[in-house]
Amino acid sequence: MLSVLSALVLVLLSAVTFFICRTLRQAEALQNFGGEWSTKYSRLWLLWANSSGKMNTIFTVVNDKYGGRPTARIAPHMLITRDAELIKRMNAVRSPFKRSEWYTALRLHPTRDNITSVTDESVHSDIRNRMSPGYSGKENTHMESDIDHRLLDLFDLITRKYSSTAQNFRPVDLSRIITYFTLDVISTVAFGQEFGFLKSDSDPFGYIANLKEFLPAIIVFGAYTELQRILRLPIFRAILPKSTDKRGLGRVMGFAKERVEERFGAKPIVRQDMLGSFIARGMMQAELESETLTQITAGSDSTASALRMTLYFITTNPAVYTRLLDEITTAIAIGRVSRPIIRDAEARRLPYLQACIKEGLRMYPPVTGLLAKEVPAEGAELEPGKFAPGGTWVAWNSWGLQRNQGIFGPDAEVFRPERWLPRESDGQDKDEEGGEERRLERMTETVGLVFGYGRFGCLGRGVAMMELNKGIIEVSGEILCFSRLMQCTSPWIYSALPNDKMPRCCSASTYKPSTPPSPSPRSALVSFSIRI
Ligand code: HEM
Repeated sequence: MLSVLSALVLVLLSAVTFFICRTLRQAEALQNFGGEWSTKYSRLWLLWANSSGKMNTIFTVVNDKYGGRPTARIAPHMLITRDAELIKRMNAVRSPFKRSEWYTALRLHPTRDNITSVTDESVHSDIRNRMSPGYSGKENTHMESDIDHRLLDLFDLITRKYSSTAQNFRPVDLSRIITYFTLDVISTVAFGQEFGFLKSDSDPFGYIANLKEFLPAIIVFGAYTELQRILRLPIFRAILPKSTDKRGLGRVMGFAKERVEERFGAKPIVRQDMLGSFIARGMMQAELESETLTQITAGSDSTASALRMTLYFITTNPAVYTRLLDEITTAIAIGRVSRPIIRDAEARRLPYLQACIKEGLRMYPPVTGLLAKEVPAEGAELEPGKFAPGGTWVAWNSWGLQRNQGIFGPDAEVFRPERWLPRESDGQDKDEEGGEERRLERMTETVGLVFGYGRFGCLGRGVAMMELNKGIIEVSGEILCFSRLMQCTSPWIYSALPNDKMPRCCSASTYKPSTPPSPSPRSALVSFSIRI
């Protein structure tokens, strides 16, 4: 009995000694990088930052504070960087950096990895090669009309359910229905059938509510990634979402599974969409069940945040919305905007709209998760004279990256779409490292990083940009052109005339460019609140 006890104590002591030695070695190895004192020895600071709801600004303060260097320490084995060049270097096609174990937290299916969670380079690149064509418009001929239909569903919902009358005031939370919009878009472009969030004006599967419940767990696993291994033990599988669940993430899994099943079997549905393209490239049924679920999580909240935040910045800046209104109404007047929904190609030709979208993505990069990459075994020099040993994780600070004053100017904290428009030359440009053209190029390259880069870059970028190109102008149109959404009690509350009084479709005759909408009596309005 005593010998068993002694053996146990010995094992425990060895484990503690190993842990202390490893922590001291890590602290020593990353001593060239600044960071909060406790991060040398523990991950508690990281856990605190992750769960604070302000990690974007906390990491930016850390990056600024420690010598103004772009890379700082946030855990014994982890750094965070706002250096665009380092991010590109780590993600480049032939880079020796790879995904760290952090990514395994993105596994949603109980037994299968997916494109975002797999850490094996060759498996990832094989999946990516087979999935990329499906994300492109060429192999997904319905993509644009699918997005148009969902946008019309959004406006239909507003008209149908939220038109106020003198007796009945019906506010709607625009932020909520924008999430519904992106979820219905992604299910339609992914497998040809919308979930029905907009039609039912509800979260029919309890998916959003369930994701919120998962959030604390995701935060803990982001800091203590090894805990995920425990969750994978068969004994814990029962608490993970599964496709037979009646509600939540599991129900969405079940929905995706059913849509995948329809494409196989005796009478398979054949459709030229993402799923059709993946099947044509040899993806198997079980693989697709995991991947389609990932498409939904990767493609909905990110785009909803981008839409919400850009709309918020536009509608709360009178100078910006007046200028955007001018651009829209002029384009309509000269027949450059199709109705009822603008074409993607037309939106791309509206410079001020494009400036607003880029500035919205810059001010509020939707993906602020750590996305940590791992330094190769031989180590790497991350900054001149600053070496990180093999195995170090380097996370990205997407918020800080987009606030680089050297790239975006001293007012990088301000939402100012004008920074994206060519400036008239004042003879000074040549001093600015390559002049005006180079300035715009550097800004465009940097804002593009909100979608990641290189071999890990976002596959859904084209879909997201199409949603933004159409969504920003059409919803802004509701706010700016049609006076349907007008601010009343706070920056977030909007009011609008019902559709029968003021047609939704822009037409040159209904607008007076540059004339701000005059407030109408509240009782005759539809109201909207935008929550962020
Ligand atoms: C504004 C909206 C979006 C933003 C800002 C965004 C951003 C990102 C980022 C930062 C990554 C990870 C890069 C890395 O790991 O280093 C990523 C990956 C990915 N995104 Fe998006 N995304 C958006 C919308 C979408 C949409 C709509 C879809 C689906 C239609 C999508 C599908 C994916 C996929 C499949 C990956 C994994 C790529 C890979 O591992 O090779 N994303 N995205």
